[in-house]
Amino acid sequence: MPSVKVAPITIFIMLSVLFLIYSVAIYLKPLREKDHQKATIQKQAAAGKDVWQKHNCHTCHQLYGLGGYLGPDVTNVTAKPGYSDAFLKAVINNGMGLMPPFDLTNQEMEDLLVFLQSMNETGTANPQHYSPKINGTFTLND
Ligand code: HEC
Repeated sequence: MPSVKVAPITIFIMLSVLFLIYSVAIYLKPLREKDHQKATIQKQAAAGKDVWQKHNCHTCHQLYGLGGYLGPDVTNVTAKPGYSDAFLKAVINNGMGLMPPFDLTNQEMEDLLVFLQSMNETGTANPQHYSPKINGTFTLND
């Protein structure tokens, strides 16, 4: 069987070129439009989580059932019918019942709403739909 001989230097050059093309493609990835948008949303959601923590929302509210129990679980609050951005802003700025008013900057409010929206996109949580089992796991009720 005839064998094709390739000089080691040729293989080296071919691998180097492939390595360069691959490296450039990887480094350009974050600059692509869609990824850039996604990164901006993630950044804003992270800033919103800081607002959430800074103003101690978790002392009264739960995310996935974890947190304080004075207020309701807000994991999916942005998906509740009638809970538009404007309504949520009004509730957070002016308070409601036992919910105290918060004096947030516009930027803090926008970040907080992006955080709550991205929280909603992670799944649904309604602790009342879960029943604990004897082995420590949960079953989902209807
Ligand atoms: C002192 C406890 C307390 C703190 C702190 C608090 N909340 Fe509340 N929140 C409540 C209570 C109680 C309600 C329910 C009010 C009602 O229905 O009358 C509520 C309601 C809400 C609602 C409407 C929920 C629904 O399903 O109707 C949202 C949204 C909300 N709070 C967001 C926040 C955010 C964001 C923060 C932090 C900036 C925060 N809350 C801090 C007690 C609190």
